[in-house]
Amino acid sequence: MKYILFYKKAILMKKYLALIALLQMFNNTVHAQETTDLRQFVEMPPQMKEMFLKNMRGHMEALDQIIAALADNDLNAAADIAGTTMGSASGKQRQCDEDGSQQHKKTEHKKKAFGKFMPPAMKAMGRQLHISANKFAVIARQGDMGEAYKSLSQITATCVACHQSFQVK
Ligand code: HEC
Repeated sequence: MKYILFYKKAILMKKYLALIALLQMFNNTVHAQETTDLRQFVEMPPQMKEMFLKNMRGHMEALDQIIAALADNDLNAAADIAGTTMGSASGKQRQCDEDGSQQHKKTEHKKKAFGKFMPPAMKAMGRQLHISANKFAVIARQGDMGEAYKSLSQITATCVACHQSFQVK
């Protein structure tokens, strides 16, 4: 009888400990979110957000292509990609190229509009991305692979800085 009681107690204790562990885990998660996610929410209408995120996925794709070009030892191609996708001459042009002509006017209008939802600090980071991309294009054309990589990391540092500061909803 004594043994059975002890056994039951042990099971209860185990359950209790499991519960504590679970609560602790939950608490840690909540805590981690509180302390590490300090991003500012930027509100955009749904369509605008969709367009913004599509633009972002385009940046990711461009980055992938730039790295592939560098791996191929093709610094000029890397420069071209950076200039046409992320450089200051890219924005509207690319948007128009991507969408059908019927969509042209509407898209152009929307494209112009999404900047107005961005707070000044976010806009500044966006401009910094274009500046870094232009610089990368110049440096890559000079032909030094090491310098090109250093310059590429200035582009990715801008991606990281903005992602740590803002989120959209
Ligand atoms: C001006 C600020 C800014 C810059 C610069 C920036 N991003 Fe973003 N990006 C954002 C924000 C804000 C989001 C939305 C994040 C969220 O809401 O959680 C985002 C989302 C994304 C996403 C997810 C898209 C989706 O469909 O959900 C990708 C991929 C991305 N960015 C890639 C990049 C890359 C690569 C770069 C650099 C070449 C870059 N971004 C530069 C602000 C920026």
